[in-house]
Amino acid sequence: MPRRLAILGSTGSVGIQALDVVSRSTYELTVVALSASSAWEPLLEQAQRYGVPRVALADPDSALRAADAWTDGEVLAGPDGLVELITECECDLVLNAIMGSAGLVPTVAALGEGIDLALANKESLVVGGELVTQLAEATGAQIIPVDSEHSALFQLLASEQAGTVDRLILTASGGPFRGMRRDQLAEVTVEQALAHPTWEMGGKITIDSATLMNKGLELIEAHHLFGTPYEQIDVVVHPQSIVHSLIELCDGATLAHLGYPDMRVPISYALHYPERVDVPVAPLDLVALGALSFEPVDEDTFVCLPLAREAARAGGTAPCTLNAANEVAVHAFLQGRIGFLDIATVIEETLASLGVEQVHSFDALGEADARARQHASELVATRAAA
Ligand SMILES: NC(=O)c1ccc[n+]([C@@H]2O[C@H](COP(=O)([O-])OP(=O)(O)OC[C@H]3O[C@@H](n4cnc5c(N)ncnc54)[C@H](OP(=O)(O)O)[C@@H]3O)[C@@H](O)[C@H]2O)c1
Repeated sequence: MPRRLAILGSTGSVGIQALDVVSRSTYELTVVALSASSAWEPLLEQAQRYGVPRVALADPDSALRAADAWTDGEVLAGPDGLVELITECECDLVLNAIMGSAGLVPTVAALGEGIDLALANKESLVVGGELVTQLAEATGAQIIPVDSEHSALFQLLASEQAGTVDRLILTASGGPFRGMRRDQLAEVTVEQALAHPTWEMGGKITIDSATLMNKGLELIEAHHLFGTPYEQIDVVVHPQSIVHSLIELCDGATLAHLGYPDMRVPISYALHYPERVDVPVAPLDLVALGALSFEPVDEDTFVCLPLAREAARAGGTAPCTLNAANEVAVHAFLQGRIGFLDIATVIEETLASLGVEQVHSFDALGEADARARQHASELVATRAAA
């Protein structure tokens, strides 16, 4: 039987690469559902190319236009349409490659139905990690990470017994501003921040990589995926992005996962799990690489990482607030409304103003997300007007 896939966020960087993996796969993968936010024309092209009968668009106006233009298939609209798409498509695996906390509702919809989830949308776990993992346990659905570092950890941990792993080590490229001092970051441009040295990704995650918030989000993601306490998860800067993560074991051995930075590798692993299939990437040439280097994170300059760690330790609504404020601030930076250093300031001030509440439901998370967005937007408006 072919494996039936729903690909959410199919018009984005991960989504497009996932469809490329599907096209080249020797395994039987059938795409049965696709979604995007507003990019309806590329979405319909994908649907026609892959013979997908039903799609969803988060933006209702784009959904209307798509429905007018597409007579051969069905277009669902808004967040409810996306949930309907997931729960009715009878798929075996959902790939969630949506950007931002908008990915939480589809994550919950898939896991709630007991459907296995290939998760690129790290924000789902940052915002609702405890509830999301409890839901997966309750329904028996599996979460297979797509983020390259977490895919590496997932593979490294697979053959280890409980209690033998002392530490997880996430690698970070350091982003385009590695080695710069804080005062030098005040004037960096959007174009400079988008010029990631090793990975080609969507705009939001590329800015998160430049601030190192991405590593903060990944720290929280790793904690929830693997149940590892925060004090046993470290981050090390590795500019070449060849070592994707490491695990340190109780007998003094450390295992690493290596490969060229190409998202098709972890995407393919997640889509075919537990099988492995050929992916057309060059074999690693260690001699040509010559040397791999590692250095500590400069947390005085890249304060988003310690901010994320503090929010993670505070728990409750704090990671949700951190994430929402970050999304608002990064969006404002990309629009040229605030400077690069303002991103961390907006997040820090939002966290300080809103405090931490316990979380008992997904609805409470939705409310915390909205409050944080409102507060961060006001801070952005004040800074933009200054
Ligand atoms: N890119 C990478 O290499 C990479 C690596 C590891 C993890 N990730 C994670 O994967 C996720 C996607 O990243 P990306 O770089 O692929 O992002 P991206 O290129 O910006 O694509 C995002 C996708 O999500 C859709 N989308 C955006 N907002 C939405 C909303 N409110 N509701 C429904 N759909 C929405 C977009 O639709 P439109 O095209 O219509 O806007 C697009 O299809 C993020 O969580 C990121 O952290 C990415």
